[in-house]
Amino acid sequence: MAVAIHIEGLTKVFEVGKSQVTAVDHLSLDVDEGEIFGFLGPNGAGKTTTIKMLLGLIFPTAGSATILGKDIGDIQVKREISYLPESPYFYDHLTGRELLDFYGRLFGLSAQVLKQRTDELLELVGLADAGGKSLRQYSKGMMQRIGIAQALVNDPKILFLDEPTSGLDAIARIEVRRIIQRLKEQGGKTVFLSSHQLLEVELVCDRVSIMNRGKLVRVGNVEQLLVGSDMEIIGEGIPEEGLARIRTLIPDARTQNGRLTAVHSDEEIIGQIIDIIRAHKGHIISLTPQRRTLEDLFVQTFKEEVRA
Ligand SMILES: Nc1ncnc2c1ncn2[C@@H]1O[C@H](COP(=O)(O)OP(=O)(O)O)[C@@H](O)[C@H]1O
Ligand SMILES: [Mg+2]
Repeated sequence: MAVAIHIEGLTKVFEVGKSQVTAVDHLSLDVDEGEIFGFLGPNGAGKTTTIKMLLGLIFPTAGSATILGKDIGDIQVKREISYLPESPYFYDHLTGRELLDFYGRLFGLSAQVLKQRTDELLELVGLADAGGKSLRQYSKGMMQRIGIAQALVNDPKILFLDEPTSGLDAIARIEVRRIIQRLKEQGGKTVFLSSHQLLEVELVCDRVSIMNRGKLVRVGNVEQLLVGSDMEIIGEGIPEEGLARIRTLIPDARTQNGRLTAVHSDEEIIGQIIDIIRAHKGHIISLTPQRRTLEDLFVQTFKEEVRA
């Protein structure tokens, strides 16, 4: 698969008075074409600074990046990308349709192309009926959705969305997520999506990365990152003698209504538990790998960082 975004040693140091803040610290990362890529990290992790460097809005202190094979300083890149900032500001005397029209004309789209594009985009973001209303009447969620439509006016190959769901209520968040899912189904676009909310990216992203204090701490396929090494075994019909042996191996194994639940990360131990259950003519009801949530992973990643 072709690489959409290639980042190498990207670094940004801000001078604040006499001191320096390293907002992004030697970040290296590849994002594939067509991928929905989650860029996660708590506030202050360096997400917005990274996005601004990739967009050419601020200059890196060190390192480099290419977008679709071209250096981020190359003006040609600008045609292929688009951006929805963290807190977008639009002229609110315009209607939704006028806003899209305005941005479309900035990109030099013909009236005919623009009309069709505007209709498609209003439909995509669920604002087909609200296109004639002025933005002043839009809710926060509607504003964010028209913002996404605006960012799609030039039919970019790569879309940067900086915390598109932050500050939205649950329903509005689902709506934004649905738009990203629709873009994914349509295919052809690479989406670079930053968030400090894990659930948001878990549901829509192919791969995610986790940033903390300017550094990349993890990157991978959502499934790979989420599969933990713990196995849960549930058994039934195990006599007390068998349960006692199991408890010597896993002291915190639980039994309730004659049903055993035990969790362990060591395959060897899990194997022994299975043998004990069988030897005592008990039944194995299930054997399940424990799926961590991204939340767990986040917490664990930061614990590892603090220890390091
Ligand atoms: N223009 C700036 N001047 C000084 N420090 C900045 C500037 N922009 C960001 N920072 C600092 O860089 C760090 C990363 O910020 P940012 O990229 O906005 O993080 P995120 O988007 O992940 O919340 C923070 O410590 C922030 O205070
Ligand atoms: Mg930010």
